[in-house]
This record gives sequence, C-alpha cells and structure tokens, in this order.
Amino acid sequence: MNVVIAGGHGQIALRLARLLAARGDTALSLIRNPAHADDVRAAGAGPVVLDLETAKPDELADQLTGADAVVFAAGAGPGSGAARKDTVDRAASVLLADAAEQAGVRRFVQVSSMGAGEPPRPGTDDVWAAYIKAKTEAEDDLRARDLDWLVLRPGALTNDPGTGLVTLAEPSVGRGAVTRDDVASVILALLDTPAVDRRTLELIGGETPIKDAIAALSG
Ligand SMILES: NC(=O)c1ccc[n+]([C@@H]2O[C@H](COP(=O)([O-])OP(=O)(O)OC[C@H]3O[C@@H](n4cnc5c(N)ncnc54)[C@H](OP(=O)(O)O)[C@@H]3O)[C@@H](O)[C@H]2O)c1
Repeated sequence: MNVVIAGGHGQIALRLARLLAARGDTALSLIRNPAHADDVRAAGAGPVVLDLETAKPDELADQLTGADAVVFAAGAGPGSGAARKDTVDRAASVLLADAAEQAGVRRFVQVSSMGAGEPPRPGTDDVWAAYIKAKTEAEDDLRARDLDWLVLRPGALTNDPGTGLVTLAEPSVGRGAVTRDDVASVILALLDTPAVDRRTLELIGGETPIKDAIAALSG
C-alpha cells in the first residue's frame, strides 16, 4: 500500500508511518518543517516539505498521484489560536481533499476529534469552539465529496502504550481517552478494510480487539 500522510511529523502520523514501514508498505509524509525530515525518515517514511497552509492544489495533487490512500493527521496543535484552527484543521483538510480528487485518490481517512459534529457547549472558550467548528466543517466538506472517505473521531489522546483494545463505533460512544498507538493501529486496520467507508467513527479505549471492532463494522 502506498499512503500519503498529511501532518507527517505529528505524533499519530509518525506512529502510523512506523506501522506501515514495518510491514513493507510505503508512506510519504507531508511536513512543513525541513528539520523534521530526519525523524520522518527514521520512522520509515519519505518526507516531502509542503506547508498545507500555503501549498497550491496542483503541487499537493502532484504528491498524491499514484497513492492508494491519503490520511489527514495534521492539526494546528494545542498552542495555536482560533485562526490556525481554521487554516489547518479545516482549510488544510479541504485542500487535501481537493488534491485527492484531482489526483484520483479515492480513499481519504480524516483524523477529526470527539466533539465535532455538535455545536460547542455554551461557555466553551473561543479557541476550543474554533477547533470544534473547524473539525465539524472539515468533516462536512469530506462527506459532500465523491470520495471513499472515513472520519475518525478519537477521544482525548494519550501517549500511554497501546492496548489494542478499543471502542470503535458510529456516534456516540461517549467520552473517553485513547492512546495514540491505538489510533495509529486503527487507522492502519481501516486502510486494510475498504468495505468500511463513508462512515463517521468514534474511538476511545475499550475492551474489543481492534480487528474485531472493525470486523463488526464491515459485517
Ligand atoms: N490532543 C487530543 O487529545 C486530540 C483528540 C482528538 C483528536 N485530535 C486530533 O488528532 C490529530 C492528530 O493528533 P496528534 O497528537 O498526532 O497531532 P500533532 O502531534 O500535534 O501533529 C499535528 C501535525 O500537523 C502538522 N501541521 C500543522 N500545521 C501544518 C501545516 N501548515 N502544514 C503541514 N503540517 C502541519 C504539525 O507540524 P508542525 O510540528 O510543523 O507544527 C504536526 O506535525 C490532530 O488533528 C488533532 O487535532 C487531538
């Protein structure tokens, strides 16, 4: 499999690149900081420096040509303000989906967030509200496209070791945490299961082995 990962130096992205490389698949990781290239190579992926807030659709489409799937794992990050929630969490996903269509790459996995799809709760701080709005709009954009899309909404991410045990289902699974290791493993398993597509899935830690959770969705 040949996978392009946007936000390639992200914590989930690097884990996914390692999983793909370990089994002989090819990952191309889009990063904006050239200093991150060595980390990406160490994870077994090929780095491409391309800032998703300034890239032109054509240059992004060029990088996607021939890929089997695209994974949007970028995010403005915890230190960012409301403006970058819009330019990264929403607009960069829209740009990537435009490029996927242009390049003829049908499969698109979007890492969204628990809480998307609903208005922010009253009293929510402005940055969190902008984040949820951006994720919601990115999801809506993807659903309107003629792509084999998947929206994955993880709960609160942790760096604990993965357990391989999850709760993965269409909304709503309730609030909870999930390890980044398990999120990467779920993305890999979803990439292996084309029958599960055009679905919005929520993910938290749980008691079901990942392969069983995905088999239940495709059955
Ligand atoms: N934290 C949580 O609890 C939580 C919960 C649910 C969902 N999520 C979402 O899950 C996703 C992945 O999480 P994570 O922890 O792996 O994220 P992360 O480590 O913050 O990685 C995000 C990556 O996006 C990259 N990025 C930002 N702006 C970019 C741009 N203009 N062009 C290219 N790349 C850009 C960042 O690169 P730089 O290093 O150059 O900035 C970073 O490598 C994010 O979308 C996040 O919002 C997070």
